[in-house]
Amino acid sequence: MNALQKLLGWVDDRFPLTATWKAHLSEYYAPKNFNFWYFFGSLALLVLVLQIVTGIFLVMHYKPDASLNAAGVPVAFASVEYIMRDVDWGWLIRYLHSTGASAFFVVVYLHMFRGLIYGSYRKPRELIWIFGVIIYLALMAEAFMGYLLPWGQMSYWGAQVIINLFAAVPFIGNDLSLWIRGDFVVGDATLNRFFSFHVIAVPLVLLALVAAHLVALHEVGSNNPDGVEIKKKKDPQTGIPLDGIPFHPYYTVKDILGVVVFLIVFSAVVFFAPEMGGYFLEANNFIPADPLKTPPHIAPVWYFTPYYAILRAVPPLLGSQFPGVLLMGVAVMIFFALPWLDRSPVKSIRYRGPIFKWFLAAFVVSFIGLGWLGILPATPLYTWIARGLSVVYFAFFLLMPWYTKIDKTKPEPERVTG
Ligand code: HEM
Repeated sequence: MNALQKLLGWVDDRFPLTATWKAHLSEYYAPKNFNFWYFFGSLALLVLVLQIVTGIFLVMHYKPDASLNAAGVPVAFASVEYIMRDVDWGWLIRYLHSTGASAFFVVVYLHMFRGLIYGSYRKPRELIWIFGVIIYLALMAEAFMGYLLPWGQMSYWGAQVIINLFAAVPFIGNDLSLWIRGDFVVGDATLNRFFSFHVIAVPLVLLALVAAHLVALHEVGSNNPDGVEIKKKKDPQTGIPLDGIPFHPYYTVKDILGVVVFLIVFSAVVFFAPEMGGYFLEANNFIPADPLKTPPHIAPVWYFTPYYAILRAVPPLLGSQFPGVLLMGVAVMIFFALPWLDRSPVKSIRYRGPIFKWFLAAFVVSFIGLGWLGILPATPLYTWIARGLSVVYFAFFLLMPWYTKIDKTKPEPERVTG
């Protein structure tokens, strides 16, 4: 026994290091038929780490302070300019973090879409899905509060518009928005609390949720592109699923491919188009926040625009925006109900009938279409299109118990294919 093995033995007697490695990696059996859709979970983990590491370095130089410096520029805004111009490699750290925010949503949207096509939210994975939807909500809060920090025009007015939405809640609305802001308008108090939530509170919650997400996943095991439960067919001698392979080394190595492709695309954006034509970083946000000058067109960042379009599509009721705010909230919350709305006898799209496929395609069109409309100024025509697409969006969920039941499915195979 060499020194290293001795050390490992010493640790194992006091902490389940080898046991954990085995249980979650080298003897954790994952279905052998994962395809590229299964890259996005590990990529989400990668982006989470990237955001935390780059965030730590940003905080070393960033100052959450709305007061004006000697040059008349808000200190917070000036500290970001300082990071971009004077801090060694500061521009890279900031672009990694700002591009990382958009990349996070790209990866998470694709990860969620994988869940939709393979029915990964179905029994027994409801809790994995529920943790996922809470992660999605936390991620939105994280992105929204982070966006205020550079204290540019879009940061300021975006926050003003969104926090004002809470004022539409009946009875408690005004107090609620005042409580969130900490002032009568978005100001230094708002900036300080958003900083504190963005930097420590929400990341802690996110990490805990991701841990719970993975514990739940390892309890029941992964779904796969066939939607077949591999635990149903085990080797009688070893008890190992016949269609399972050890996560390590097979998927640790396979996931490296996803990481390499991701990093190529990600670096291309970071180095050649960090603003992404105004979709990742908006031109208006390079102007310091000015409480006296409202920008002509206020729109959230692309990952929020589907919900923003739903909000604007709903007409006010007796002068109150509350119906729109409510529908926007329901549009996100409805994801929680998915495991109980789907009545199909099969999980994967491979064995589903045409009705599900049409509804899913219509849902994707509605989500992208609403996202597009949410970026544009609301004209009467666009508002009507957004209303139509909102109906399609909700129809996907609300009619699901019906259309998944009547759809003509193919029989699910006993074992995974290919
Ligand atoms: C920070 C964000 C997230 C991280 C780091 C994360 C991480 C992961 C990882 C590593 C896996 C296993 C690998 C894979 O199946 O791709 C996984 C599986 C899964 N995730 Fe996430 N996830 C995140 C967000 C979400 C969200 C927002 C949802 C849904 C709303 C979700 C739903 C699921 C489901 C249903 C599975 C099981 C998939 C299957 O077995 O087919 N996740 N997640």
